[in-house]
Parts: sequence; structure tokens; C-alpha cells
Amino acid sequence: MKTAIAPGSSRMNARKIFLRSMLIVVACAPFAFSQSPGDTPPDEQTVRQRADALLQKMTLDEKIGQLSQLFNFGPAKTVDDAVSKGQLGSVLFVTDPAETNRLQHLAVDQTRMHIPLLFGFDVIHGFRTIFPVPIAMAASWDPSAATKAQTIAAKEARSVGIHWAFAPMLDIARDPRWGRIVEGAGEDPYLGSAMAAAQVRGFQGDYIGAPDHILACMKHFAGYGAAIGGRDYDEAYIPDTLLYNVYLAPFHAAVKAGIGTAMSAYLDLNDVPATGNRWLLHDVLREQWKFSGFVVSDANSVKSLEIHRFAKDTYQAGVYAFKAGVNMEMALGFTAYSKSLATAVERGEITAQEIEEAARPILEMKIRLGLFEHPYVDEARSKQILAMPEHRVASRLAAERTAVLLRNEHELLPLSKTAYKKIAVIGPLADSKIDTLGSWAFRHDLAETVTVLEGLKSKLGSQAEVSFAQGVQIRRKTPSMLDPILGLKPAPVWTDQQSTEEFSNATHLANSSDLAILVLGEAQNMSGESASRESLDLPGREEELLEAVAATGKPVVLVLLNGRPLDIKWASEHIPAILDAWYPGTQGGNAIANLLFGDAVPGGKLPFTWVRDVGQVSTYYAHNTTQAPESQGKRYWDEESTPLYPFGYGLSYSTFQFSNLKLSQTQLKSGDSMDVSVDVENTGASTADEVAQLYIHQQYGSTSRPVRELKGFQRFTLAADEKKTVHFSIGKEELTYWSTAKKAWVEEASKFDVWVGGNSNATLHGDFVVTQ
Ligand code: NOJ
Repeated sequence: MKTAIAPGSSRMNARKIFLRSMLIVVACAPFAFSQSPGDTPPDEQTVRQRADALLQKMTLDEKIGQLSQLFNFGPAKTVDDAVSKGQLGSVLFVTDPAETNRLQHLAVDQTRMHIPLLFGFDVIHGFRTIFPVPIAMAASWDPSAATKAQTIAAKEARSVGIHWAFAPMLDIARDPRWGRIVEGAGEDPYLGSAMAAAQVRGFQGDYIGAPDHILACMKHFAGYGAAIGGRDYDEAYIPDTLLYNVYLAPFHAAVKAGIGTAMSAYLDLNDVPATGNRWLLHDVLREQWKFSGFVVSDANSVKSLEIHRFAKDTYQAGVYAFKAGVNMEMALGFTAYSKSLATAVERGEITAQEIEEAARPILEMKIRLGLFEHPYVDEARSKQILAMPEHRVASRLAAERTAVLLRNEHELLPLSKTAYKKIAVIGPLADSKIDTLGSWAFRHDLAETVTVLEGLKSKLGSQAEVSFAQGVQIRRKTPSMLDPILGLKPAPVWTDQQSTEEFSNATHLANSSDLAILVLGEAQNMSGESASRESLDLPGREEELLEAVAATGKPVVLVLLNGRPLDIKWASEHIPAILDAWYPGTQGGNAIANLLFGDAVPGGKLPFTWVRDVGQVSTYYAHNTTQAPESQGKRYWDEESTPLYPFGYGLSYSTFQFSNLKLSQTQLKSGDSMDVSVDVENTGASTADEVAQLYIHQQYGSTSRPVRELKGFQRFTLAADEKKTVHFSIGKEELTYWSTAKKAWVEEASKFDVWVGGNSNATLHGDFVVTQ
């Protein structure tokens, strides 16, 4: 392995190296010869003592250095210099193991305290192997699938020297215009909390420091998904009832699951920027939830306190963020912390003790992760891990588990493998590798990404003639200026200009085929950060293409690639089969081929309410009832008020019947729990998955409560004619909520409805009473 010491260096250097290694031994004194880190959970008392020992020896500047994180791009040598001078605790966006080792050597060999760097990266839905996007993983309604995916992502990332994922994103999103809805678990706090805890387990393993695992970072704390108008970065006004019961719930679940770090959000929350919001970062996170990890800012969000017109200048921005509870500042070029904290200590605005307390959890994480003992990675091992074929298999299985079947008239799906000799595959996303992956995929290998066209061809081989026509260009968001800096291969920029020839090629192809499979939706960069839309239409001329192909009279299957609900009102009435495949990842094409031809059965369910069109935004299932409930009239006179597809909806190639809802009690004493059971039978002809969902409604109390709230779900497989009894528990946890009237968490005496079924419109109903 390379070191930063120049070859041929003098005996002086050899002596320096010896002295340095002695210092490391002293810093790690009682622990240097302990069991190799990672095999067992670190002993917390030892972690603390080791951090104390380091802090005692560190200067104020060295402690402040640990609080800064820079992107590894920008002017050449900026990062190298800062690392060598001990001015950085962490670097982000380094993904080459040789480079993580090189920078790590600078930190370990050249700084007085030899403190290793923590490398962070946006490991959102995979590292080399790309899994379906997070909204898709939520559609699996299978937390264990999310754990598996993030376990693999962690292993691949750790192998190149990354110790920290900026995930999971836990922002609840009830406005699909917001581009980042694709990065989270959708609209519901219960599903969001389950997916949050599952991802923490995947990234971090059983404990922080587990081998082949990395730190997780819950983001964006908090309220980012409620941006007004769905406009990315805009402010949000969230009342306490929604904050506590909805927006903060997944974050609290992640803290309970032991997450190590949190990222402060960009937005102004109720007029106080989240990055300068002490109530959020200190009162809620540390005092109420007892979070003991550390908080990192979002990129440049400390300096942005000045742009928000919250801080007077960069100096004040640094002081405000620090005082609010941001331990580490993430920035491009330079941090405000490096410009303000030392002066703030001199001026008495911040104490040296406070700096030490901010640095402590960062050092503790480095100790838990075993970085002092194992700062470098083995490049050969990394190559092997990134190539593991079982990771690609896991990605395909995940994609099969996440797809949602929206429509299937006359059982067009699954397709017969012998009935269609000529198959037309049409659409701008059908053979686009980058769009199969989705946003936030950086270190993937495009060559191994399987498109829908490729997946279908390899499934059918010589059994059918599979031909392709793009039909239309897609309107693609202009690539970001950061793309080249990030090393992103530029996504093809197609324009809105359409070729009549291309369009008619597609309809001719459909005409001369036995079946048309259209792959439509949004280009990968049309959702994600800074990718909000004011429309939910199928982009460009996709709708026109769809209608023209349908007009040929050939059977048509629509496969959607998307990160948000799209306006498919017309398709929902005219296209017999619609499969939502999201952005399915590296093996997407193979997974979709398996699903279309019945080698896998769709079992995913929507993690959000699918609106009819953009005018229905925001529509979510857990709304309150009013003096004129929906049953007494429509909410809009010019449009249905029901969504196109309800939250929790998804069809299967089989059918399921729910019956025999039983409550172990109809009177429950507050604090006690009861059992709710239901029989579920597979009444169709194929083995398939169903997700049993339990919803409750508190009929009266100190505040109005949502018409329905998800409080339990289970996904399972049943063979044809198989029946099983599913059990749920309802108790204090499910019945307690934040009452804005009482300003307290309450479990109130009331009457409750309970429904169990396969989506949020479940009709199987019971009720019970809670007494104090
Ligand atoms: C900004 C994004 O908001 C955040 O989600 C991401 O982790 C950081 N940039 C780092 O890339």
C-alpha cells in the first residue's frame, strides 16, 4: 500500500514514523492489543475512555478540525491540504479504494494526532449494485427486503473505504410534485417508521462497528418533505400535531433503532432554518429522544443560514448552527466552522468545553467503527466484493418484490410465453440503462445494467421476435452542473423535438406485432433532488404515443418507470395491464421480464395515494373528516375526490379474500393490548403474496383524528387455496398520539374502528372501546 512518505526519505523520517507509531499506541493504550474490532460490539465505557484520552491531548484547533467535512472536489489540493493539517474530520464523495487509502494515509501519517478520516457518501439505494429506489423499497411493504438491500450496499461501500451512508431519507412526502418523494417511503408515518428501522439495521448491522457495515444517517431532519407547493428547498409550516404524529415519527423510529447520525435539513421550518433550529436539533433530538450520535449539516446548509437571512454573516452562521446542535459541517470548498468557531471561543460566545462535547461523538463513532485499528482497505478484497454475483441476484429479487400491479383486465398478465410470436417493445425508457437505475446512483456499472428490452430478449430467446422502437424523445431535466464534478456520466439529453418518423415507426411496429409493451414514465433525473415538477403528466409526447399504440387494437401492456405517481387517468381506463416498476435498479430488465411472464408475481402495494391529476395534490388517505364527509358529497365539483388508486393498493395475479375479523376484546383498558386476527385466503390459481394492512380510527377525543391510520401490516406468501390467520396487536403504542389540545402524548378513552384488508379502503370492520 502506498504511504504519503516519499520514497528514499532519510533516517529522520524513519524516526518520525517510529515516534508516530508510538503515539498511536499511547492514544489507543489499553486497547491496542484487544480483540480485532468489529467482531463484538464495542464496550461503551472503553469507547468513552478512548475518546477522553484523545480529547485530553487535542488542541482546540484539532477539535474544531474534527467538526469539518468537505466534498472531495473543488480546487485541487484543497482537501489534501486540509486533511494533512488536521483540519478535517471527514471527507465525502471518495469512492475509489486507492483514493480513500491515499487520503487516509495523509490523515493518519501526517497529522499530530493521527486521527483517521471518516469517509461519507450518498449510498442511497446501492453502491455498485443498484437496488430499486427507496420509494420502491417501501412499495415492497417488506422491511426485511430493505434490510437486505442496505446490508449489501453497506458491504460494497465499506469495501472501498466508505464508513458512512447519507441514508435513509425519512422525509414524509404528501405532495408528489416534490422530486425527492422518490428517496423516501412515501406518505405514511407507520410504514415510514418500519422502513426507517429496517434500513438502520441494514446499514449498521447489529451494532455500530459490526464488520462490513457502515454508519447510517437519517435525513433530512426535519420537515423537508412538506415544502410548500412541492418546491424543493422551499419553507414548510408544520403544526405540532403533524410534526409529532407524522413528520418526525420515522426519525424517532430510527433513533430507537440506534441510528448513529442525523443530517439537518435545508429548509426553513416554521420560520427557523432546520440547520439553526435548536428546538429541533437539541430539545427534540437530544433531550426528548436521547439521541447520542452526532448531527451533520446538509451540504453548505450552515453557510446558507446567511442566505436564509437568519444569520448576519458566515461567522454568525457557524455560531448559530453550532449552538443549535450541528456537530459537523458538510461543505464545499471551506466550512463556516473553520472560519468562526475558534474566534467564537476567543470571544466567549462558545466555550472550549462545548467544542469538546461536539467533537466527542464524532471521535466515538470512529472508535466504534474500528478506524484507529483498521484505517485502510484492501483493494483486492474490494474488487471481489463489488463483483459478487449474489448481490445482483438480490437486486433482481428486490425489484420483483417492489413492483405494483395497477391494472390487469381480463388477466392479460401474466403473458403467455408461447402466445406472442412478435413483441413490440416501445418507448424512450425501454432500452435506457441510466433510466433503469433512478437518481442517486453514482458508482454503478452501466454495462451490467439490464434494460427492459434486454431482459425481455434474454427471457424469450428464440421463442419470440422482440423488436424495439423508441417512438418519442423524452423531455429530460437538464443535467446539473455538478454532474461532471461528481464524475457522473452524462445522461443523454433528449429534447422535446420529435421525429414524426420515429413516432410512426413505433405505431407500425405495434401494428405488425402480436403484443406491444410500452415502457414510459420519467427520465431518471426528473425526480430526485432539485427535480420538482408542476405537472404529473407523462412527459413530452408519451401520452400521445400510448394512445396511438393503443389505437392499433393490439393488446398493450404499460410498464411505468417512475419515482412519483403520474397522471395516467386515460391509461387507467384504456390500457388493460399497467405495471409500476419504479426505477428497478441494476437487474431491472430481468425482474420486469420475470414479472410480465409470470416467473415472479407482483405483490407490491402503493406507499402513497395515487392522485388522478396534479389538481388533487395534496391528497392522502389519513386526512381528517369534516362536517361534510366525502360520503355526503365530492370535494371538488369538477373532479372526483377519490384518488385513482388508494394508499396500500396493488393487484396480484391471484386473488385474496379477507374474512373472520376477530378482536380478542371489545373493551380495552388504557395501557393494555389486544389481539386482532383475520383469515386471509388465496382464492386464485397461483402462489402469490398479499399484504394484510390494519387501520384504526379514533372516533372522538381531545382533537379530531384521521379517518384511518395504518397501525400494522404483514406481507406473506400463500399457495392457491391456502388460508392463514394473521395476527396483529393493538395497544398503547398504536393508540397513543400527540394531542395538540393537551400538548401531550395521550391514549384517550374513546371508541375505535378497526379495518383489515389489502389496501386502505379495506371494508372488513370491527370496533372496540378504550377506557381509562
Ligand atoms: C445534498 C442532499 O440534500 C443530501 O441528501 C445529500 O446527502 C448531500 N447533498 C450530500 O451529497
